[in-house]
Amino acid sequence: MSDTVKIISIIDECHDTKTFEFQWDEKASAGQFIMVWMPGMEEIPMSLSKTGRIKSITVKKIGKDTQKLHDLRLGSPLRIRGPYGKGFDLKSGKNTLIIGGGVGTASIIPVVKETGADTIIGARSSDDVIMDEIAGKYVKNLWISTDDGSRGFHGNVVQLMREKFKENNYGMVIACGPEIMQYHLYNACVELKVDCQLSLERHMKCGAGICGSCVMDGMRVCKDGPVFTKEEISKLTDFGVSKRDECGRLVKLG
Ligand SMILES: Cc1cc2nc3c(=O)[nH]c(=O)nc-3n(C[C@H](O)[C@H](O)[C@H](O)COP(=O)(O)OP(=O)(O)OC[C@H]3O[C@@H](n4cnc5c(N)ncnc54)[C@H](O)[C@@H]3O)c2cc1C
Ligand code: FES
Repeated sequence: MSDTVKIISIIDECHDTKTFEFQWDEKASAGQFIMVWMPGMEEIPMSLSKTGRIKSITVKKIGKDTQKLHDLRLGSPLRIRGPYGKGFDLKSGKNTLIIGGGVGTASIIPVVKETGADTIIGARSSDDVIMDEIAGKYVKNLWISTDDGSRGFHGNVVQLMREKFKENNYGMVIACGPEIMQYHLYNACVELKVDCQLSLERHMKCGAGICGSCVMDGMRVCKDGPVFTKEEISKLTDFGVSKRDECGRLVKLG
């Protein structure tokens, strides 16, 4: 479904990240994403950070297109299509730990709201922590980690997750964040013998399973993902190793 929506609210999450709310009646679930476009930019994928009738995207400014989105004002029109992809499966019934790293936190907020499960939000420093206030309204246990120790646990979310596993018996980890974080998180889940669902990113053009630009080992991240199960991830040889850029060239992940 393709539509033009109007921005009805803008929230400054931190120095480089903003949330843009709009009304859109399309049904969407936690972990799904949309393609967004306005004149002067390429169309890019954005996770839904709110999935009800009022929906939102949470945008970290990293390049020219996300800069363009940061120029949106109240009442600005935004062209969107979707929602796309397979979201998180919240029916496992297992005791769940939710983990968001950086702007990946945007994609796990709908899971936080729906489940109220224990949550870890990680960021580089206290200035980069986002959406902790909203998460705190829905969960009993919210833990923050920062790489530089300026707030909460000193270290990354995977180190904090290992600490929390000493105290709690979790059966499922749900996460979104930078691939390097998710790579270590996946390995920790294998070691701890716990199930997981991770939301992955690859370069997207159509967003709808047609163009092939997001393919990883035969799986289309836009259609078969972006959320993948532990078993699916175990078969992805590119995961944590390399990805294709906008020209389809294989690029090693740093
Ligand atoms: C399913 C999915 C959900 C996403 N959700 C969010 C979100 O909620 N919030 C957020 O801030 N960012 C999100 N992103 C990442 C976002 O799409 C990129 O940050 C954005 O496209 C960068 O564009 P740019 O022109 O500002 O930066 P550029 O300088 O053009 O690109 C910077 C980096 O962004 C990535 N990128 C660029 N274009 C695309 C594209 N078409 N598809 C995928 N990656 C691209 C590339 O890795 C590139 O190296 C998501 C990506 C995917 C695949
Ligand atoms: S973006 Fe076209 S197939 Fe996934």
